[in-house]
Amino acid sequence: MVKKINISIVGTGLMGFQHIKAIKKSKKANLHSIVDISNNAKNISKKYNIPLYSNVSDLLNLKKTDAVIVATPNQLHEKHTLSFLKNKIPVLLEKPISDNIQSAKKIIAAANKNKTPLLIGYHRRHNSIVSKVKNIINKGKLGKIVSANVLCWLYKHKTYYKEKWRVSKGGGPLGINLVHDIDMICYLLGSIKYVQAFTSNKTRKFKVEDTAAVSLIFTSGVLCSINLSDTIVAPWSYELTAGENPVYPITDQSAYMIGGTKGSIQFPNLKFWFYKKERSWWNKLFVNKNKNKKDNNTLVNQIDHFADVVRKKVKPKVNGNDGLNSLKIFAAITKSAKTGKKVRI
Ligand SMILES: NC(=O)c1ccc[n+]([C@@H]2O[C@H](COP(=O)([O-])OP(=O)(O)OC[C@H]3O[C@@H](n4cnc5c(N)ncnc54)[C@H](O)[C@@H]3O)[C@@H](O)[C@H]2O)c1
Repeated sequence: MVKKINISIVGTGLMGFQHIKAIKKSKKANLHSIVDISNNAKNISKKYNIPLYSNVSDLLNLKKTDAVIVATPNQLHEKHTLSFLKNKIPVLLEKPISDNIQSAKKIIAAANKNKTPLLIGYHRRHNSIVSKVKNIINKGKLGKIVSANVLCWLYKHKTYYKEKWRVSKGGGPLGINLVHDIDMICYLLGSIKYVQAFTSNKTRKFKVEDTAAVSLIFTSGVLCSINLSDTIVAPWSYELTAGENPVYPITDQSAYMIGGTKGSIQFPNLKFWFYKKERSWWNKLFVNKNKNKKDNNTLVNQIDHFADVVRKKVKPKVNGNDGLNSLKIFAAITKSAKTGKKVRI
């Protein structure tokens, strides 16, 4: 049997803790240690019987790990990731790659200079449902793709916003949630050429947005609208429909609709709509529901993939440039919302 990869986790908050659970389920990885400054980390260290370091230097000086996951606040991604890449330790870096473009470029340059793998934590790409949708599109089953509609409506509780970084630049739902949707829609439909957006903070009244309406034009000419809010009680978001993360109880709804000249698909529930006879709004529209189960192993799949990346068996499915791409779109959305103008990517 192949030896497991030792992984240390830096930042064991909401997401870091999900990674701990995923590593425990993975056959390819072993939890080496954690790095965190919170009291809660002490409990995690006891519970899993693993060393806890209070800073990255201690981990680097005291004991070597094969790889790390960086799941600290976005504003700390650059500092933490660079210290590992400089020591040639592969990194699975949580999304977004960083809170600004310059810093993202430094991270990518460090990975290239040190020839050290960098995987960005857009875990949805490791969901088998997403691969199925990509196949359906690539095989032309929808015909020529015309437009897409993405909803991300959810309600975040009060205590979620106790963490100050979540109400600072980059900590709102554009940086936390929408970047996932951007990464996904670019993976499925290609590169984006123009962005136009409106944002609002009228409901929560934080400095960061709580709601956004975004229009996208792809290089291919496909149009897309994304509507996002973290202050709406609703079932329509990838988070609440994919069943990837047990933190979010699942609904039977969908979040994405992709439409083409031969049919359209909703997902994650994989409903495919089409005509059997002549394509006409006067004819009966049929729906095929894919019987495959939801994939609730996405985070474990991501850890297994990371182990293969660390062993240099495969290239990262989501590399630094993918991370930079979604960050650029995020920046363009923010700019467009501020200026009221369409932004060219
Ligand atoms: N992939 C996803 O679906 C997903 C979901 C949520 C969050 N995230 C990302 O994960 C990252 C963390 O988000 P979160 O919601 O878990 O945040 P969080 O605030 O719950 O956790 C951050 C952790 O980092 C620790 N930390 C802060 N400063 C530190 C330092 N200097 N050294 C070591 N540890 C430090 C904190 O004590 C805390 O435990 C963010 O980049 C976020 O965007 C990704």
